[in-house]
Amino acid sequence: MKTKITELFEIEHPIVQGGMHYVGFAELAAAVSNAGGLGTITGLTQGTPEKLAAEIEKCRGLTDKPIAVNLTFLPIVDKPDYPGFIKAIADGGVKIVETAGNNPTQWMPVLKEHGIKVIHKCTTVRHALKAQGAGVDALSIDGFECGGHPGEDDIPNMILLPRAADELTVPFISSGGMADARSLIASLAMGAEGMNMGTRFICTKEAPVHENVKQAILKATELDTRLIMRPIRNTERVLTNASVERVLKIEQEKGQDTSLQDVAAEVSGVYPKVMLDGDMDAGPWSCGMVAGLIHDIPSVKDLIDQIMSEADAMIRDRLRGLLADKPADAA
Ligand SMILES: Cc1cc2nc3c(=O)[nH]c(=O)nc-3n(C[C@H](O)[C@H](O)[C@H](O)COP(=O)(O)O)c2cc1C
Repeated sequence: MKTKITELFEIEHPIVQGGMHYVGFAELAAAVSNAGGLGTITGLTQGTPEKLAAEIEKCRGLTDKPIAVNLTFLPIVDKPDYPGFIKAIADGGVKIVETAGNNPTQWMPVLKEHGIKVIHKCTTVRHALKAQGAGVDALSIDGFECGGHPGEDDIPNMILLPRAADELTVPFISSGGMADARSLIASLAMGAEGMNMGTRFICTKEAPVHENVKQAILKATELDTRLIMRPIRNTERVLTNASVERVLKIEQEKGQDTSLQDVAAEVSGVYPKVMLDGDMDAGPWSCGMVAGLIHDIPSVKDLIDQIMSEADAMIRDRLRGLLADKPADAA
């Protein structure tokens, strides 16, 4: 399949793995890129520019295909060393960055100076237009269904993607709730040039997370995610557990007066405990509603191959078969 995204990023299939805290290590990024998609190392997870440089080098040892690094711009006072992370990315020869969180405008000149293509992930058309104005090469449009931070507007992809198609001039991919060939075909139909997946990629053989995490997603249905930190406008979609229920109780009691301090003990330092140690009740961790569509733990290559072959069959057989006036070669 050739789309504007496969051409822009020089990849075989229009499938991207989004940056994921304590999941996006070299092993997963390389597996996705080797399978013909675009794998992404999560920058901030590595902790320091030096460690990010080492992770990029490790990934380079595992694949010679294009890879990306995710840079999540956090709205906090004590900012990570973003210039250092960008230098590590450029020195490591990585040519694609997925930005997320805050608007990337401030970082565009230095990224472009290094010949880096930028795909900005955001949850509203308004933010997408702003990033497009700042010169990003592509957008990842993250619907309300998504695992992680869906923003505060709550627009699901059935509306958000066609809205993006109506407004944007740069190519975009769908993100949030994507799992299989049906997701890909629906995304293409709504104007996207490919799709981004997070939660689905956690349930793969190569995802370097504790087995308990994969089993928790397999067990979960589409009813098992919750939105936390809504009162502080830092909404996160997480898989429910005892800690999540405690956070929601605090938020219910304090209402709009809830502050980060009120929930900090539950939400801080959770990811290594969940993802590396498999302590599933250590705190809230991001997970998409798409858990309801995930029933196996394939290799990344099997997952991507299956998506692409089913997408091919869906276009050739099901969709073409629906045409009253079929093209001659589809008869
Ligand atoms: C465990 C987990 C951690 C994530 N961490 C990040 C992150 O650090 N930065 C980021 O930009 N997105 C992060 N995301 C969002 C994903 O990159 C992706 O946009 C999202 O998972 C798409 O929704 P889906 O899970 O329904 O596929 C995370 C998602 C998950 C599930």
